[in-house]
Amino acid sequence: MERGLTLLVAALVAHLSFSNAQVEITRSACGVTKLCVETPDDCAPDGTDNCLFTSVVAAAPVAPNGAMLSIELRGDSSGYIAVGLTVDATVGTTMLFICAQNSATKAFVFRTMTMNNIGGVLTANSEPVSAVNGMVTGDVIKCEFNITSVNATRSRGRSSQATTFSILLGTGTTNGDNVGPFNLVLNSGPLDLANPASNVVNATAAAPPTMPNSGGAVQPHAVLLLLSVLSLAVMLRGGSCG
Ligand SMILES: *[C@@H]1O[C@H](CO)[C@@H](O)[C@H](O)[C@H]1NC(C)=O
Ligand SMILES: *[C@@H]1O[C@H](CO)[C@@H](O)[C@H](O)[C@H]1NC(C)=O
Ligand SMILES: *[C@@H]1O[C@H](CO)[C@@H](O)[C@H](O)[C@H]1NC(C)=O
Repeated sequence: MERGLTLLVAALVAHLSFSNAQVEITRSACGVTKLCVETPDDCAPDGTDNCLFTSVVAAAPVAPNGAMLSIELRGDSSGYIAVGLTVDATVGTTMLFICAQNSATKAFVFRTMTMNNIGGVLTANSEPVSAVNGMVTGDVIKCEFNITSVNATRSRGRSSQATTFSILLGTGTTNGDNVGPFNLVLNSGPLDLANPASNVVNATAAAPPTMPNSGGAVQPHAVLLLLSVLSLAVMLRGGSCG
């Protein structure tokens, strides 16, 4: 019995770590049924040019466990590529999902880590993940997996919405199956993972609003200053009359 259990655990670990399978990842359905984040912009995950790409499909959240996510990840690395989910990349932690190649055998390796957002220290965790598939072709790593449940409102630095996370993309090195520090390549900023079009915005329209007349026009604080000077003058005049 105990022996059977041990074998089962070993089989599960082996499955998680080394499953090699055909993984096809395309841009098809980006912004329609899946949320895509990539660098360079609009790069082709099924092509041969450099492209660090992830897609997310969120199932409807079911309280209190949150939402299941289906993730695709593709990138170029002789070590690992990773996608991170965090409520706020400046505090707390990031759930990091790592698809890697063993530095010696070049076999596919899957890892989940908790990254401290201050300092970047990685700690192995047991984030519930299922249906892991991965493949390594030279330096191109492709993988897909499901994250059983996420709920941003439960995290430190709480989001008001269960499915609002910043998506981080990055790479790192491997030594055997061990992973080195995460090098951030892209931070999407907060996105609603449940909305595949949440980052489909016109780059021009999405630019932060700038004060078009910041040079010449009266600024709000200047108005306040003016008002207080005026009221001071009124008070002084009132005082001199009395
Ligand atoms: C997320 O967690 C919060 C706080 O624990 C809980 O109130 C809420 O119901 C959860 N939402 C989902 C969709 O699981
Ligand atoms: C993974 O997610 C996909 C898409 O939501 C779903 O069809 C599939 O059943 C899931 N697999 C597992 C093992 O949860
Ligand atoms: C974004 O807006 C600019 C200027 O309004 C326009 O020329 C461009 O075609 C738009 N791009 C998309 C993808 O809508």
